[in-house]
Amino acid sequence: MKFGHFDDLNREYVITQPDTPLPWINYLGCQAYFGIISNTAGGYSFYRDARLRRLTRYRYNNVPLDFGGRYVYLRDDESREFWSPSWQPTRTDLKDYSCRHGMGYTVIGSTRGGIEAHTRYFVPLDENLEIWQLTVTNTRATKASISAFASIEFCLWDAQDDTTNFQRNFSIGQVEVEDGVIYHKTEYRERRNHFAYFACSEKGAGFDTQREAFLGRYRGWDSPAAVEAGQLTNSIAHGWSPIGAHQVKLDLAPGETKQIVFVLGYHENPVAEKFDPPGSQIINKKTVKPTIAKYLDPKKADAAFEQLRQYWAGLLDIFQVNTPDIHTNRMVNIWNAYQCMATFNMSRSASFFESGIGRGLGFRDSNQDLLGFVHMAPIRARERIIDLAATQLPTGGAYHQYQPLTKRGNNDVGSGFNDDPHWLIIGVAAYLKETGDWSILDEKVPYDNEPGSETPLYEHLQRSFHYTLERLGPHGLPLIGRADWNDCLNLNCFSDTPGQSFQTTTNKDGKVAESVFIAGLFVHAGQELAAIARHRGQDAEAAKYLAEVKKMDQVVRKHGWDGEWFLRAYDDFGAKIGSKECEEGKIFIETNGYCVLAGIGLEDGLAAKALESTRKHLATKHGIVLQQPAYSRYYLNLGEISSYPPGYKENAGIFCHNNPWVIIAETRLGHGDEAHDYYSRINPSAREEISDLHRCEPYVYAQMIAGKDAPTFGEAKNSWLTGTAAWNYYAIVQWILGVRATLDGLEIAPVIPRNWPGFTATRIFRGVTYKITIERKGDGNSITLTVDGAPIKGNIVPPPADGRKTVSIKGILS
Ligand code: BGC
Ligand code: NOJ
Repeated sequence: MKFGHFDDLNREYVITQPDTPLPWINYLGCQAYFGIISNTAGGYSFYRDARLRRLTRYRYNNVPLDFGGRYVYLRDDESREFWSPSWQPTRTDLKDYSCRHGMGYTVIGSTRGGIEAHTRYFVPLDENLEIWQLTVTNTRATKASISAFASIEFCLWDAQDDTTNFQRNFSIGQVEVEDGVIYHKTEYRERRNHFAYFACSEKGAGFDTQREAFLGRYRGWDSPAAVEAGQLTNSIAHGWSPIGAHQVKLDLAPGETKQIVFVLGYHENPVAEKFDPPGSQIINKKTVKPTIAKYLDPKKADAAFEQLRQYWAGLLDIFQVNTPDIHTNRMVNIWNAYQCMATFNMSRSASFFESGIGRGLGFRDSNQDLLGFVHMAPIRARERIIDLAATQLPTGGAYHQYQPLTKRGNNDVGSGFNDDPHWLIIGVAAYLKETGDWSILDEKVPYDNEPGSETPLYEHLQRSFHYTLERLGPHGLPLIGRADWNDCLNLNCFSDTPGQSFQTTTNKDGKVAESVFIAGLFVHAGQELAAIARHRGQDAEAAKYLAEVKKMDQVVRKHGWDGEWFLRAYDDFGAKIGSKECEEGKIFIETNGYCVLAGIGLEDGLAAKALESTRKHLATKHGIVLQQPAYSRYYLNLGEISSYPPGYKENAGIFCHNNPWVIIAETRLGHGDEAHDYYSRINPSAREEISDLHRCEPYVYAQMIAGKDAPTFGEAKNSWLTGTAAWNYYAIVQWILGVRATLDGLEIAPVIPRNWPGFTATRIFRGVTYKITIERKGDGNSITLTVDGAPIKGNIVPPPADGRKTVSIKGILS
């Protein structure tokens, strides 16, 4: 069953039934001001940091689901009936409800009683504000008197404190209302120099800023007393819960349309100019009034929207493909690329599954995210790399996360995850391949943000590599530390205390438990680092890295191979994990995908065997599960992985993040059919028809689909912010379609299904537009290329020597 449909031409997903199984959301904003918005206008906004600078409130895990947002109400002032055109919060029956989620904007609307209303929500480029354009049309044969209301609930900035510290917070709320604009200025009187505002383009018929005055006692957002009465009360909040609500009266002739613009924004004043007049307690609004006036003008709002459209078109146009598979096309051309930008912006902080309070920017995650967006935002990728590297510890290790507002690493989710440092090498390698900007390696970057500790970025990569060499275990495999990619394989934790964090608890000295996964990752990262060194003319150094890689490859063969697949790890007792000898958890996806991706066992059949075993034991119709058999009880020596009921999350769930490792591994063996088949099993668009089972949005990836051991096999959770976005994008674009950025130029190495006659693509790479046509003439993956009509040797297209800006590539597969 479906709840909407794709509109590929407009790059939108159109939801036509409001009660989707879960809130189906979109992201507004792409630079500093952000919001999430559901298909019924639920959600919230923040400036840079979802935890520390939250503008509006949202209540997670509320009943009913998805409550609190950017709510518009309409009231027929003759019949006194009121409703919300976005369905929530009133949940009144509507005609022609639709929510169009597009690239950085959402339009929600419907018709009721002949009154058609749509609101377009978006964040203009380069501004710290969002625009709501409400258009109301009277389709009746008679005139209509309508009151339109718009409302939000302010958050007192720190989202965590806001939901817990009531003894203080109920006394600190402050607002000002001037010229019809509502200013939220809690704590502005002391150390904050920022405030929020909510403005309306029309002369208002009333406002409210105190929640209780608007809603009425013991009433909710579904039936605000002031809306019911048809008159806001001009309340001024003193403490309690400041809100922003505007009322506009519309007299509409038959067929008449009117537009009202609302602007919700964030503004900072220089500390010395906070107040006007100086010495008073009144916000200096001179600095923000021109911005507010600008965007309340519908023409300026339209122009800003057009700019936003062009911005997204520009980003997406960097890679466009036309294959025989519609699901591949729309994910690659539109939604997967778009999701990659969202994961870049948010890391894992703000979604309907991530409260924006718990997690900042993860070191591991943010480095991997680079794989998916570096081609669209190379300058911002560079900045992100420097920020991440600046939180690296002098040992080469890493804090697991940092808050975007402070950019300082913290130990909230621990550190000492021994895989972390290698992702920096892989992220930087992706940046170099895309941009050819070698200067980044000379950039002076501190450790742990400590002034005076700066070294060139290149040294950060060297320390990342050595971090593992200095931490090898009894078999010569890397010690796992707190965990590796799998945050839940906590082999030094041994926690028997309820509620203790698996990520920060350590009861073992960490000298025994080893990770075969980190070994595979080391082999991959080591090859990347060697290639970088070689390019810098440091051949001897490159050779040293490759020697270590070779050693590790041998250790993996000797101690990391179980006969039919790669082992997963050794625990604190030196016992195998992910082996046929185990009672449960005999085979894991991570090592079988990643070791092959890294090239281990490609020549001698180990890789082929590992993938065969993966297919046999782990593949399901909904994707590849993480391990089998699932853990049926809690294992003290394994940690969080066994805390999940079988089939969920890391305990044998389908982790869509690591499925692409197997997809890439299949392409490394030349298996285009298998690779694309796996790709399709978790492709959200290909799962649209089973939306009632899948439950999450059909236009973006979710972190997890319940595995075959779960009673809800096939049900997705944790959509949007997941490494799944970048890895799937990388797998389909660079490995199946084989349009791959390398240090030497654009490589063309498709490993596509046998029954595809070929495909065409456009790729803008280092300023040159490559028009690519691939034609299949035989069953295999050998390719011969002609570039602008001339055959070339090999399959790497070097940058055009004569400065041409458009290049045609023709590839024949045989
Ligand atoms: C989740 C992991 C996540 C970790 C760190 C665990 O509860 O299962 O997927 O990586 O928390 O936040
Ligand atoms: C989600 C985390 O964000 C990511 O870092 C981790 O690798 C996976 N879960 C697996 O545990």
